[in-house]
Amino acid sequence: MSNTNSPNKNVFVCNNPLIRFFLTEIRNKNSEPLKFRSYMKEASKYLVYEALSNIEIKTKEIETPVAIAEGIEFKNKFIVAPILRAGLSMVDGIIEVLPFAQIRHIGLYRNEETLQPVEYYVKLPDAIDENTNVLIIDPMLATGGSAISAVDVFKKRGVKGSSIKFISLIASKIGVEKLMEAHNDIELYCANIDSELNEKGYIVPGLGDAGDRCFGT
Ligand code: PRP
Ligand code: URA
Repeated sequence: MSNTNSPNKNVFVCNNPLIRFFLTEIRNKNSEPLKFRSYMKEASKYLVYEALSNIEIKTKEIETPVAIAEGIEFKNKFIVAPILRAGLSMVDGIIEVLPFAQIRHIGLYRNEETLQPVEYYVKLPDAIDENTNVLIIDPMLATGGSAISAVDVFKKRGVKGSSIKFISLIASKIGVEKLMEAHNDIELYCANIDSELNEKGYIVPGLGDAGDRCFGT
């Protein structure tokens, strides 16, 4: 994992060859929805593995059949928050790694003309423990608008920025800048930062429309 070329110390590009391999196949326009979903699941497992490398833990003792051993447990609970729809493609991989996490869906779509995010489904408690580990997942971070809104949703309910991690597959350079400008206390993990957005707000080279490719629409 590297953040040496990134614009911000809280931005991590996870460039392990396994993740790069899955990213390559996911980008390929000939990968049909079944392959797209299955490789997104794999890539998500490794991305979350990287994102958990600095998660807060506490030690605890357990008894093995032979003796006492020192182990660890996580200090705080986990919420995995997929942004609908494309974020759903990352859920299966992540809950395989974190089966005890709560899943809280965030419904946002981008207005195609303005590219502004529109919220259509958020059902969360009014207050959430500030230390909860919130992992917001969405394969695409383009203009950054959806990511900024999703982080706002959790901050408004009391979660500390330092407990929030945004996990995406591909981020655009401008999207990373916008997200970190709006929320410089969160961490961002992605497999690559692509340089451009086209006139329709799509990431270039990107992978096209993640929701459509995942669900065959
Ligand atoms: C896509 C993607 C992100 C958003 C990123 O969702 O999954 O949520 O666009 O764009 P932004 O960074 O410019 O906000 P989309 O709005 O297409 O909704 P969908 O997944 O339901 O198709
Ligand atoms: N949403 C997508 O699905 N793809 C992009 O390139 C940008 C936003």
